[in-house]
Amino acid sequence: MDKFLIRGGLPLKGKIEIGGAKNSALPCLAAALLTPETVTLHNVPYVKDLITQRRLLEDLGATVLTPELRTHKITAKGVDVYEAPYELVKTMRASVLALGPLLARFGQAKVSLPGGCAIGTRPIDLHLRAFEQLGAEVLLERGDVVARAPKGRLKGNVIDFEKVTVTGTENVMMAAALADGRTVIKNAAMEPEIDDLANLLNKMGARIRGAGTDTIEIDGVEALGGAEHTIISDRIETGTFMVAAAITGGELEIKSCVPEHLTAVIAKLRDSGVVVEEINPSTLLVRQGGSGLRACNVTTEPHPQFPTDMQAQYMALMTQADGESKIVETIFENRFMHAAEMIRMGADIHISGNTATVRGKTKLMGAPLLASDLRASASLVLAALCAEGETLIDRVYHIDRGYETIVRKLRSLGADIERIKTSVEETVAEPVAV
Ligand code: EPU
Repeated sequence: MDKFLIRGGLPLKGKIEIGGAKNSALPCLAAALLTPETVTLHNVPYVKDLITQRRLLEDLGATVLTPELRTHKITAKGVDVYEAPYELVKTMRASVLALGPLLARFGQAKVSLPGGCAIGTRPIDLHLRAFEQLGAEVLLERGDVVARAPKGRLKGNVIDFEKVTVTGTENVMMAAALADGRTVIKNAAMEPEIDDLANLLNKMGARIRGAGTDTIEIDGVEALGGAEHTIISDRIETGTFMVAAAITGGELEIKSCVPEHLTAVIAKLRDSGVVVEEINPSTLLVRQGGSGLRACNVTTEPHPQFPTDMQAQYMALMTQADGESKIVETIFENRFMHAAEMIRMGADIHISGNTATVRGKTKLMGAPLLASDLRASASLVLAALCAEGETLIDRVYHIDRGYETIVRKLRSLGADIERIKTSVEETVAEPVAV
């Protein structure tokens, strides 16, 4: 398995271009299953999860052409399999996004039920209950979810989610786009990725209103057609580079981002002593303020509040801030795995239930570390960049799932980071995002 070797202590400086949003591209690729016509997506990030999602579409019988590196032309005309097997789902939970489109267009779908993962149990019960409310029969057979629409078509209904769910909202939006009649999603997720998916679906001929608010109305249509769409920029990659500038005492110009998707993150970083200037609507200039970093409490919540996907990176920053901060994780029950690794570097962090208490301004020392999930890996890279000495991070395949060419990008900003490949077999076996 590949590792990262990082020698810390260098301030990051320069300009960085943000790529397309992984969590937007994943549902947008799945949406292409809703039509036999071609859906062209631009700004698809070249990361492992998107390679997996592409493979899923191809396994189902769709063709995916890549005329340019980040452009996918997907034609789901020849789909003749309605099944996402365990082998795929176990490597990427977002495969469940195939359920809604397959059920809506073909009246049947079989997707392996994802198990728990490094950040929590992550059930999909809310997706499944919503499909039942749209008229589907949903069964669990030998670990697979088998769903059928009795007369081949779903029927619109009111879906009132008891908990905000991002992929649940996306799955229902895609299913309802081809259902008979009107569907109203209440307590819908309001993440920018929902709005992006709705924009694509509307270009395909769907009739969706209210995406980006907590109530989404969908009037089902007979059929959807082809469309061309550019994926929004990745707000979590943006936030990660903002923290990289602040934690290393450097200065970064972050280009091709959407600051309005990061309002809560920008506000929290400013409270913590980070200078964030909006140079133009898609460029931020970020550096640490003159009086250093200040400890600030944060609680993760659904958008537009502070995202759980930035919690680990913010914890790394708080290890360098003056004072004590409390970090409360309300979305996932087991998303503090990075804390134990930061403690091995010398951080002063105590976990009690869903709250981490960080006593800041501790000197971090390089150490061998183990990455446990995507955002945890990013936070360990950030901690290593400001630590004294060498850090070796193992299991960086997690970071390849969601950060495009992270080593190359960080090196271009002056970081001392390299990827170590441990054996020839593994080099060949492991798909690497380049
Ligand atoms: N939940 C249920 N039942 C469900 C669905 C969700 O109990 O049927 C719970 C979850 O266990 C969790 C909470 O509801 O406690 C919210 O989960 P949500 O469904 O919103 O998460 P998700 O859709 O599985 C997406 C992102 C995650 C991100 C979360 C929260 C994608 C592909 N994934 O996951 O991204 O953390 O929303 O914002 O969009 C990442 O990129 O690193 C990542 C984990």
